[in-house]
Amino acid sequence: METAVAISLTLFILTGLCAGQGLFPQGSVNGAEGGTAMFITNLIPPAQPFITISWTVGGANIITSTSDDSIGPGYGDRITLNKTTGSLELRNLTLADSGGYRVAITTATAETINGSTELVVYENISDANITGPPNHLFADWSSANLTCEAAGNITTIQWMKEGQPLSAGGNILFSEENRKVSISPVKRHDSGEYVCKLTNPASSATASYRMIVNYGPESMTILGQNIAEVESFTLIYCSVQSVPPATFTWLFNGQQTGVHEAGYIISSVSYNNSGDYRCDARNDLTGNVISVDHSLSVKGTENISSINCGEITIHFKKTIEVLCINILQTILEVNVNAFCMLFRNKKGNNEEKGKRKT
Ligand SMILES: *[C@@H]1O[C@H](CO)[C@@H](O)[C@H](O)[C@H]1NC(C)=O
Ligand SMILES: *[C@@H]1O[C@H](CO)[C@@H](O)[C@H](O)[C@H]1NC(C)=O
Ligand SMILES: *[C@@H]1O[C@H](CO)[C@@H](O)[C@H](O)[C@H]1NC(C)=O
Ligand SMILES: *[C@@H]1O[C@H](CO)[C@@H](O)[C@H](O)[C@H]1NC(C)=O
Ligand SMILES: *[C@@H]1O[C@H](CO)[C@@H](O)[C@H](O)[C@H]1NC(C)=O
Ligand SMILES: *[C@@H]1O[C@H](CO)[C@@H](O)[C@H](O)[C@H]1NC(C)=O
Ligand SMILES: *[C@@H]1O[C@H](CO)[C@@H](O)[C@H](O)[C@H]1NC(C)=O
Ligand SMILES: *[C@@H]1O[C@H](CO)[C@@H](O)[C@H](O)[C@H]1NC(C)=O
Ligand SMILES: *[C@@H]1O[C@H](CO)[C@@H](O)[C@H](O)[C@H]1NC(C)=O
Repeated sequence: METAVAISLTLFILTGLCAGQGLFPQGSVNGAEGGTAMFITNLIPPAQPFITISWTVGGANIITSTSDDSIGPGYGDRITLNKTTGSLELRNLTLADSGGYRVAITTATAETINGSTELVVYENISDANITGPPNHLFADWSSANLTCEAAGNITTIQWMKEGQPLSAGGNILFSEENRKVSISPVKRHDSGEYVCKLTNPASSATASYRMIVNYGPESMTILGQNIAEVESFTLIYCSVQSVPPATFTWLFNGQQTGVHEAGYIISSVSYNNSGDYRCDARNDLTGNVISVDHSLSVKGTENISSINCGEITIHFKKTIEVLCINILQTILEVNVNAFCMLFRNKKGNNEEKGKRKT
């Protein structure tokens, strides 16, 4: 046990002698202004306490710890020294704390362990903000610059769109050390939430911006049936792609209807609803208007007459082809029995044009 400690101490003395930095990990210690820095040595607490531990920055005393402690000005309530490892905690950092730090330790066996490291204090990043284009953007036509600004020490800036890293290429170009994203021309799929993440080794901040690319209206279709039963509920729906959403105007046989929704609803269809419908969709920002036509025929459901086939009654309903039914009916009434027999034979196939069974 005691030999193990002696061997590791010897190793530390050697590394301290050779490199002067072996006490600390490679690279600098990073701290945030107002935050805390830890200078952690890799010493294993020795069996016998160190005789002296002395920390300096740029040659000025921070703490010299022997039988009592001598603390440099400005460090009184900012430091904690771990006397078994020589590690130092420095709190409430200011930018002026940046510099080269050295520790010199004298062991119980009167050997010296020296180490040095560098502290870099970064201003916290604050007030992050993205500035976007002041005007409306139009797909395939406008260009946009998004600029990410913040206060503090910024070492890297990364951009994300809808949570995914944004990369250069195509219509996207980064400049000013990633501070600026230029999108030229904007495409409709460039709409979305942009986030810039600014970082330094001690802090980070994000800002976000919602970009809207206007387009359309386009890809317009009318959804809905062309034949409606009288007294049924009927919806004709005008589907269109547009940003901002299109405003609609419905015309019926060339006349204004006063309907300005995407859906044209007839809660109970009448015969006089048969005709030509037209949906006009307008994008108020692009100023574009497109139209689609749709025809609707209303089919009746009232019984015109019925034929009694004994166990079954066949009802004739009014349809668009009323005349046709009347002729059929007249023919059938002449020979009801033949019709009923025919009907019974075809019972499996019970739907026929212009008539229904009950
Ligand atoms: C900077 O950030 C650190 C860590 O988040 C925090 O402890 C500290 O108070 C901040 N400093 C200021 C000046 O806001
Ligand atoms: C000093 O550091 C060692 C090792 O990290 C730890 O075990 C010990 O508790 C510390 N002592 C004090 C007084 O913080
Ligand atoms: C940190 O330092 C500033 C001035 O440098 C002082 O005003 C503040 O009180 C200190 N805060 C703490 C917690 O020591
Ligand atoms: C360790 O540093 C002290 C002063 O910081 C110096 O006097 C001494 O010579 C150094 N010792 C070694 C072995 O580098
Ligand atoms: C970002 O900057 C814009 C203009 O430069 C300003 O209107 C906005 O309030 C800022 N937002 C934040 C969160 O600072
Ligand atoms: C975007 O910034 C570039 C310079 O980086 C400038 O040439 C271009 O005009 C800007 N575009 C817009 C739309 O502001
Ligand atoms: C942080 O910014 C300040 C002032 O802007 C500057 O003096 C300092 O050198 C910067 N620190 C780092 C680590 O870049
Ligand atoms: C259509 O017919 C219904 C009754 O069937 C009637 O109430 C309505 O006023 C008619 N509408 C038009 C535009 O003629
Ligand atoms: C009309 O036809 C329906 C079947 O679609 C039937 O239930 C009803 O009784 C018939 N009405 C008359 C008055 O015949």
